Amino acid sequence: RQAPPSNITWHPSLTRHERNQLRRQRGFTVWFTGLSASGKSTVATALEQHLLHLGLAAYRLDGDNVRFGLNKDLGFSEKDRNENIRRIAEVAKLFADSSTIALTSFISPYRADRQIARDLHAAASQPGDEPLPFIEVFVDVPLEVAEKRDPKGLYRKARAGEIKEFTGISAPYEPPESPEITIRTDQLSVEECVRKIVDYLAERGLVS
Ligand code: PPS
Repeated sequence: RQAPPSNITWHPSLTRHERNQLRRQRGFTVWFTGLSASGKSTVATALEQHLLHLGLAAYRLDGDNVRFGLNKDLGFSEKDRNENIRRIAEVAKLFADSSTIALTSFISPYRADRQIARDLHAAASQPGDEPLPFIEVFVDVPLEVAEKRDPKGLYRKARAGEIKEFTGISAPYEPPESPEITIRTDQLSVEECVRKIVDYLAERGLVS
């Protein structure tokens, strides 16, 4: 854990194990990453519904929506995206620590930022805690497919130069090197993508 500002001390609380036992649920984060229009939000929403139907507490944090509130002061420069992802990672960690399943759907284009999110989860433990799982899901579609979908007309505007620093066109997207799960939304249906993720979670003993 990073050194806190002076005059601030960490207040210990229930262990994660105790909280999980009382809530009868293990918290963790499923971190979706991929280009705009790759299908992150669609699959994350379907997964959220699936988990809620199983009776599990799950909550989705979404790029567009979070930028209306918590992150409304941030744009799309590299620095702002770094800060966007840092804040989301902190919030997801808190949800997961509260024995909730946090689902995040942000482009999160930089490998280093996603690593920071992963490290924050790994470091978020008091002695005796069980680790906080972090599962990275790469929503992998070719740029041409995402651009063809263009549900919000943003790729067209980016190509026309009306939007600057647009991911995949005029700003980078760094694909994950070893994500826990990769889904091809141009090859699988939404239900098949959800099934693939749920099967993985079941194998890890995170859902039953
Ligand atoms: S990031 O890169 O993770 O900080 O982005 P995120 O918070 O996920 O926000 C992505 C959504 O914002 C819209 N949008 C842009 N995306 C990429 N680049 C630029 N310049 C941009 N401007 C606006 C876009 O609708 C993204 O939504 P999704 O759902 O990914 O298509």
